[in-house]
Amino acid sequence: MKKLSIFLLLIMSVFVLGACQSDEKIAVSGESSDGVQEMKIKFSHVVAENTPKHQGALAMKEYIEKESDGKIKVEIYPNSSLFGDQDEYQNLVANNIQFIAPDLTKFVGNNPQFNVPALPFAFADDNEAIAFWDGEKGKEVLSSLKDDGVIGLSMWPNGGKHLTNGKHAISSPADLKGLKFRTQGGQVLESMYSALGAGSESIPFGELYTALDQGVVDGQENTFSNIESKKFDEVQKYMTVMNHTRVDYAVFTNTKFWDSMNAATKAIVEGGLAAGTEVARAEAKSLNEKALEKIKERGNVEIVELTPEQVEEFKKVLEPIYEEYKSQIGADVIEAARNAGK
Ligand code: LMR
Repeated sequence: MKKLSIFLLLIMSVFVLGACQSDEKIAVSGESSDGVQEMKIKFSHVVAENTPKHQGALAMKEYIEKESDGKIKVEIYPNSSLFGDQDEYQNLVANNIQFIAPDLTKFVGNNPQFNVPALPFAFADDNEAIAFWDGEKGKEVLSSLKDDGVIGLSMWPNGGKHLTNGKHAISSPADLKGLKFRTQGGQVLESMYSALGAGSESIPFGELYTALDQGVVDGQENTFSNIESKKFDEVQKYMTVMNHTRVDYAVFTNTKFWDSMNAATKAIVEGGLAAGTEVARAEAKSLNEKALEKIKERGNVEIVELTPEQVEEFKKVLEPIYEEYKSQIGADVIEAARNAGK
């Protein structure tokens, strides 16, 4: 009997030891046997699903979850459903979320060089904007939030912005006089409206529809994709195709989170970022073109297409902004932006 008890005890210890060892691998290091860390990543943003930013985020999620065999879960929160313009950055700094991809002009308070997408008529298309942000100066600007523990990883374009308003058709600089426009951020956008005799106010994206509806501002500037997906044309009467400034994003992450990943895990997340960047860059133009068609079909806004001469009039009025911001943004950065991809 005694012999049997000792034998049973021995068998049990072997099982318990074995169980402890395999548990230890997962619980202590948080890694599976292939070295990939199990974790949940949150990506928060403010726009709708049928936009280049959300499509990029989805591609990133799909790649990461597939390549990690589900060990890494990516949760995407669109439409300011988790955090909006007011609080997403602070929550990234606090590592409550691991990725955001804000319109870069929302960071002008942190570094005036983030005014680049607001420089009037600096970029003709997505490719020129991509060339700037992938270039030396662009990379320097994206890395300028490191003191906050934030890394700028990769630029994702949305596209050129166009003016909408509820008062009257706009086809010349004089038509903006006395109107008030919502901006994404201050500084260059504010100076631009003031040069055109208009007022401006920076309002979070999630509050924009109501602000337009209630007449807090008369108009706003945005990409076709944002105008269509957020139905701003329901509360506006006119749209001028301008392409004068841009909505461009970068994917930002938290340094502590980024550095906490081992090589196997980081390789998967970096692969996901590359997949997301590819989709966002490839989809932006066609999503904007489709959105313009939808806006036309809905027929809520009268659309003004500017002639090349009318565009020249706007360029002339807005040109002094380059001199005004030369010292804040840096002559080298402005030059790199104006020459990018040309
Ligand atoms: C806006 O605030 O108008 C846009 O920048 C929102 C976005 O992220 O595209």
